[in-house]
Amino acid sequence: MISIHEFKQKKERKEKISIVTCYDYTTAKIVDKSSVDCVLVGDSGTMTMYGCESTIQATMEMMVLLTSAVAKGTTKFIIGDMPFLSCRKGLTETMNNVHSIMKAGANAVKLEGLKGNEEIIKYITDSGIPVMGHIGLTPQAINMIGGYKVQGKLHSEAERLKNEAIELEKLGCFSIVLECMPVELAREISNSLAIPAIGIGAGPFTDGQVIVIHDMLGLEHEKKAKFVRKYMDGYNSILDSLNLYHSDVVSDKYPAQEESYFWRSE
Ligand code: KIV
Repeated sequence: MISIHEFKQKKERKEKISIVTCYDYTTAKIVDKSSVDCVLVGDSGTMTMYGCESTIQATMEMMVLLTSAVAKGTTKFIIGDMPFLSCRKGLTETMNNVHSIMKAGANAVKLEGLKGNEEIIKYITDSGIPVMGHIGLTPQAINMIGGYKVQGKLHSEAERLKNEAIELEKLGCFSIVLECMPVELAREISNSLAIPAIGIGAGPFTDGQVIVIHDMLGLEHEKKAKFVRKYMDGYNSILDSLNLYHSDVVSDKYPAQEESYFWRSE
């Protein structure tokens, strides 16, 4: 497992960090055998696993279940996402929620946004729990942002994001996700930090990348975001397999003799 120190060391050595999301035991076992550095149990799991419309519907119960399933399948460093408003209802409730994600098997937690989270991020890191920040497109704030769109295109927005990244580092974050922002801005932010900036839709000059596993495996058939690279056509592979299975069943090709049990002669 990559240790918390290795995130910074990798940045110092200019070695990129690869992170994938993961939400279940079986996939976690495969990720475990891969060379991917680290796993994020993202609140995107509410959409990919529970079919919710957005991450606003994420609950602590969902995130704890997903995190514990992943933790059973991998020994990689696991970052557990804190769901919508789970850190905004007072210190005690926040810490109980962080505790639940850590007990489920996370090695760190991720919190979206800076404004209003300053005190809590400091408290969590002072409690010995690594925190990953997340700025740019923060889907939990979608109603405020007004759509899934690139952030920091305007000079004023870009300045705000640069300052937020520096503030998050000062508060003790070990890493920051930069989601959907112009390449030049992501590059400037990454260069201004000692901790690694991990991009998603933020171009090639960040210190690493994170991607939703369903997107990279091509499991989502709908139009993909520009930044997504499909490493396989999972949707059609699964669909073809299901259709082949169906036709084998209806044409008596499945199960075959070697796939069947027989009485033993006495
Ligand atoms: O929930 C998630 O998958 C995320 C990544 C997109 C960074 O937060």
